[in-house]
Formats: sequence, structure tokens, C-alpha cells
Amino acid sequence: MRILNDLREIFNQYLNKNIFTQSPKELYEPNNYFLSIGGKRMRPVLVLLGAHLYKKNYDDVLPAAMAIECFHNFSLIHDDIMDAAPLRRGHATIHEKYSPNTAILSGDALLVYAYKFLAQIPQNYLKNILDIFSDTAIEVCEGQQLDINFETQETVTEDEYIWMIRQKTSVVLAAGLKIGSIIGGASNEDAEALFQYALNLGIAFQIQDDILDCYGNAELVGKQPGGDIIQNKKTLLLIRALNHAKDANDKSLFEILNQKDIQVAEKINSVLAIYEKYDIKISVEQTKQDYIDKAIAHLNTLQLEEEKKVVLYQLVDYLVKRDY
Ligand code: IPE
Ligand code: IPE
Ligand code: MG
Ligand code: MG
Ligand code: MG
Repeated sequence: MRILNDLREIFNQYLNKNIFTQSPKELYEPNNYFLSIGGKRMRPVLVLLGAHLYKKNYDDVLPAAMAIECFHNFSLIHDDIMDAAPLRRGHATIHEKYSPNTAILSGDALLVYAYKFLAQIPQNYLKNILDIFSDTAIEVCEGQQLDINFETQETVTEDEYIWMIRQKTSVVLAAGLKIGSIIGGASNEDAEALFQYALNLGIAFQIQDDILDCYGNAELVGKQPGGDIIQNKKTLLLIRALNHAKDANDKSLFEILNQKDIQVAEKINSVLAIYEKYDIKISVEQTKQDYIDKAIAHLNTLQLEEEKKVVLYQLVDYLVKRDY
């Protein structure tokens, strides 16, 4: 685990040197606030790790790590507007603390800065990595739109859900590791195996995010507990519960979801009681494990010494067995 913590520290030092000092402060201060209130820095750590597997100097790769963290935070700032989320990382979201307009614009600026950082990577990699980065960013928009569509779509299949979280979450983690490995000098085969490994891990990561939304310790998670239930998000938990309810001819879950004037606490408690009744948490945890296993299987094809792969096994715990 030490190397992962070291990489996070290296990234945080770079981030601290690159806080926004430009004006107007009304545009940049919210971004400094958002970047300073925490965040696990998983994506930049993945970028640095990709390079670390092949070389020991991070100067070339830090701007790419910064680009991906800027992109991630931009996507969260806008996601919080879309999800009407009051809390993030234990603090007020930007649209709550400042205003929705500020959240839109500060987020936009962060996205553009992501590209400005990306432009600093070595010229010989730039075209390829710009393409990967832009394709990924588009996939995130597609995934986020599907996430919104599904809120009001009566039936969503598990395959549709997995595709949606692949697009909104998983591809960013996978692209991060791949980009880092390319700058580190990995072969095309290794870069692709690392991508597939992180893609499956990313799916497990989002399933864990959905579990924590319902069952996490609110203080550690730092988000509004039950936020997904409040918004009728078609998480794997809800999709599975809806299928069980349908099979049992039990209308109560559909009624709760369609009830407009229901109190938030009552809605959360009722849905959680239904999850309990159908053992949803256990079955969703099993699916998460299946994706972890798929991820690990991709490590077999990597042309790296076993000793170097150790950190990739440690990453599984770091990324997926988290409680925040
Ligand atoms: C939150 O990501 C959004 C998802 C894709 C699940 P993280 O859980 O990595 O958020 P921070 O950056 O650590 O706050
Ligand atoms: C967010 O997914 C994914 C992106 C920001 C692209 P969620 O909406 O589940 O993330 P949280 O729970 O708000 O962090
Ligand atoms: Mg959200
Ligand atoms: Mg969301
Ligand atoms: Mg979530």
C-alpha cells in the first residue's frame, strides 16, 4: 500500500503548487474550495501508477494526472447539480455554497484547464493521449445522460446498468491507468491489458459507490445518505429489488418510487426495508466481487514481473474495499 500513498502524496504536492490564483476570484475560488475539501485522488494515482510500473520519474506524467483530476472534479461539480446533492466530501456542494450558475461556470473552467494541463505532456504522446482523453470525456457525458434517463425509465436491465456505469465512471479510471502506462513506455499490449483490468475494477468501484450511498457511514462518505434512493437512481440495488418485487407481485416498491409527496426519511427507510427483505446487499456484493475477479484475470496477460504486479493486487483493496 505504501507506494499508492506515496503516489498520492506526490500528486497532492503538484496540485498544491497549481492552485488557481487567477481572477475573477468568483470563478476560481469555488474550484480551489472543491479541490481542497478532500477527494481520494484515485484517478491521478492511477495515472502515476501506470507510469510507475515502467519508470521512476513522474515529471512527464504529473500534468496528465492533474488533467484527469480536473476533469473528474468538473464532472462532480456538474453531477451534484444534476443529482441535487447538497453534500460532497463532507462539505457543501458548489451549487449550494455559491450558486448553480457558479457551479456551471467554475466546472466549465476546470474542464478547459484539464486540457491546458494535458497539453503539457511530451509532444510524442500528445495526439494519442488527447484522443483517449476526449473519447473518455464523451463517454462520461453519455453515461451521465443514461443515468438521468434511467431515473424515469420504468425498467432498466442489469446489462443496461453495467453499460451506464462503464461510461459514466469506469472509463475514466481505465483511461487514467492506460495514459500513465503509455507515458511510462508500456507496450500496446500491456497498455490494453491495464485498461481492461481498470475497466472491470471501475465497474466494481461504482457498484461500491452505490452500496455506500445506502449503507455507508455518512460521516466517512461525506454525501447525503440515501441520495440515490431519493432521486430514484436505477442502481444495481434498486434494479434487483424491482425484479424481485415484480416476481413476487409486490407493488409496494413501485408505489414508493412513484409517490410524489413522500417524506425523504420515510422513502429511504421503506426502500431499505425492501432491500433487506430480498437480501439485495449480499447479492450486489457478489456481483462486485465478480468484476474484481474479472479485473484480476487481466493481470495474467501483462508482460511485467510478478513483483511489479503486487501493487496492482493492492489497488483492488484501495479502490473497491473502501468504506468512503
Ligand atoms: C465519485 O468518485 C464519483 C464516482 C464516479 C463514483 P470518488 O469516490 O473517487 O470521489 P472523490 O474524488 O474521492 O471525492
Ligand atoms: C457520478 O456518479 C459519476 C460522475 C461524476 C461522472 P454518482 O452520481 O453516483 O457519484 P456520486 O455518488 O455523486 O459521487
Ligand atoms: Mg452524484
Ligand atoms: Mg450522478
Ligand atoms: Mg453515487
